[in-house]
Amino acid sequence: MNRLAIVGSTGSIGGSALAVAEAHPDRLRVVALAAGENAARFADQVGTFAPSIVAMASDTALQSLERELSARNIAHRPRAAAGNPGLIAIATHPDVDTVLFASSGTASLEAVLAAIDAGKRIALANKEILVMAGALVMDAARRRGVPVLPVDSEHNAIHQCLDGRNLDDVRRLILTASGGPFRELSAARLHTVTPEDALRHPTWNMGPKITVDSATLMNKGLEVIEARWLFGVGPERISVLVHPQSIVHSLVEFVDGSLVAQLGVTDMRLPIQYALSYPHRWTAAVPVLDLARSGSLTFEEADTDRFPCLDLAFRALSGDPGLPIVLNAANEVAVAGFLNGTVGFTAIPAVIASTMDWYEASGPRPIATIGDVRTVDRAARGMAAEQSRR
Ligand SMILES: NC(=O)c1ccc[n+]([C@@H]2O[C@H](COP(=O)([O-])OP(=O)(O)OC[C@H]3O[C@@H](n4cnc5c(N)ncnc54)[C@H](OP(=O)(O)O)[C@@H]3O)[C@@H](O)[C@H]2O)c1
Repeated sequence: MNRLAIVGSTGSIGGSALAVAEAHPDRLRVVALAAGENAARFADQVGTFAPSIVAMASDTALQSLERELSARNIAHRPRAAAGNPGLIAIATHPDVDTVLFASSGTASLEAVLAAIDAGKRIALANKEILVMAGALVMDAARRRGVPVLPVDSEHNAIHQCLDGRNLDDVRRLILTASGGPFRELSAARLHTVTPEDALRHPTWNMGPKITVDSATLMNKGLEVIEARWLFGVGPERISVLVHPQSIVHSLVEFVDGSLVAQLGVTDMRLPIQYALSYPHRWTAAVPVLDLARSGSLTFEEADTDRFPCLDLAFRALSGDPGLPIVLNAANEVAVAGFLNGTVGFTAIPAVIASTMDWYEASGPRPIATIGDVRTVDRAARGMAAEQSRR
């Protein structure tokens, strides 16, 4: 029995993870859950899974949870805590074996490190954590001997392709990208797209922030940085290929020229289950890919003139160690601005680039601790907010 904590259970990945747990009651038991502010959905999950402990982003959210539980006549009252201490309490709970980090943004950074310190197995969907603090997190995991299993479908695919192979035999990791909803739009038309247009992803059904990131190609940029830390390869050995059908989830090119790929349906329950079952495989409640009915599979280069965010991510990875933190922070601020109508779609990369310019001009800083990460993150958010108002 693998005893689970899920951080971000009310989100898209969190919901799929609970579906995986429900499909395998003999193998997975939900012990701890954390959510942000959605008390109504969280109350339903508490009623269904009866976790021993829960956390929410704020005391106000916990008060709403109490009201929602009462309104549903749910008698179960788990131990509850708010904010960072709450996330750390669920991530380190003695009854938990594996923590799935499926929250969006950067709130879980301290909880990821606490879970590693407590020797928990980590299943990681929350890519912003590795973008911000990949070196610190992976070093801690190595020292503690804790596995970090990727849930992101591309990295999960690469994990499957690499499994047990020597990295010296690898020439390149190739991350596939759907290209997002604006793949065929002209540069001029990109100036007028709306949040509603961006939220209509052609192949994946995901939370709003990652869906906008897919439309700008920043999602792929974040994944390049995530791959660098998860697999320990430099940016010169990571490339991106646009594959609009999202059937090939990623590939590894070996030194002999062989390409090994993982294919499957676009359903996150598959990579989530792999991360929870590894090194075993379980029967999944997910349809099998029918290649005869899949149509043509096409591949093309990414257009970084129309979608400069991908180049910005490579720039961040090749520069000062603080740059990925700045890229991530500026992106979160710009995407939030786009979603609330104050920043245009094409201004997103402009805000990120000018925040990175500002950081580089202010001189390199050491990134040795979580405190350093948070300091740069805060400063970059302030600067990006200023750039967004211009
Ligand atoms: N969706 C996908 O298919 C997919 C694929 C690969 C990777 N990812 C990555 O997985 C992560 C989650 O994506 P998503 O699409 O599932 O996002 P989402 O649907 O927006 O869900 C985000 C989750 O995080 C929770 N959350 C936010 N702030 C929190 C806090 N301070 N404390 C505790 N919980 C908090 C939210 O809670 P409330 O809703 O209750 O506020 C929600 O449960 C992201 O890093 C994304 O890049 C997602």
